[in-house]
Amino acid sequence: MRIDKFLSDCKVATRREAEKAIRRGNVLLDGNIVRRADTPVDPACNTVTYCGETVEYRKYIYVLLNKPDGYVSATEDKNERTVLELLPEEVNKFGVFPCGRLDKNTQGLMLLTNDGDLAHRLLSPRRHVEKVYRFESARPLSAADIDRLTAGVDIGGYVTAPCTVTTDGGTAGVITLCEGKYHQVKLMLNAVDNRVLYLERVRFAFLTPDGLDVGAWRYLRKEEIEKLQEYKV
Ligand code: URA
Repeated sequence: MRIDKFLSDCKVATRREAEKAIRRGNVLLDGNIVRRADTPVDPACNTVTYCGETVEYRKYIYVLLNKPDGYVSATEDKNERTVLELLPEEVNKFGVFPCGRLDKNTQGLMLLTNDGDLAHRLLSPRRHVEKVYRFESARPLSAADIDRLTAGVDIGGYVTAPCTVTTDGGTAGVITLCEGKYHQVKLMLNAVDNRVLYLERVRFAFLTPDGLDVGAWRYLRKEEIEKLQEYKV
């Protein structure tokens, strides 16, 4: 890859800024001043320095957010605060978007990335990535309600796929879905004449918000990204 593309992929500089920096002698490849914008770089073995700083090659980024109540899962919204407002410029400059949606008043784990292919694979209805939600219902679910929910209920012209539901015998429960229809958990509980009072996503695939305060975020670790990349449609 050309060194100007390397720098613009990493959002360190635009191609034009990279060219300027090269002309000024501010770009080094393995310690040597680069003279041409089309100088080839191998991110796996070369070290690139831009204005005195070493640049790690990174085109795609993957972030886990513990979404608080009150933020919409969108990249922009005229009236509401979006989840992107919880992330710093160093993340947002990569153009990340939420991989799947949580309602404004749903809390919990959200993956954000600029890797459209991966997001598409993880969200594909054929992929069946597990999503686990903790809920609080208005009334306890009966054994018959649980049987109906696990077998599949009509949520307005669509019958949900089999899933698992457990409760503490009272109003607290956990539901594991392999699909992600709009407002699915709320509509499922409505289908058994109940109502969701609180909803939190506690797992997406193998990822959990453990260790992340509500509103906090972190980069995915290399091994987590590799594991997600193994998901094929
Ligand atoms: N199901 C819902 O009803 N809401 C969410 O935010 C996620 C799943």
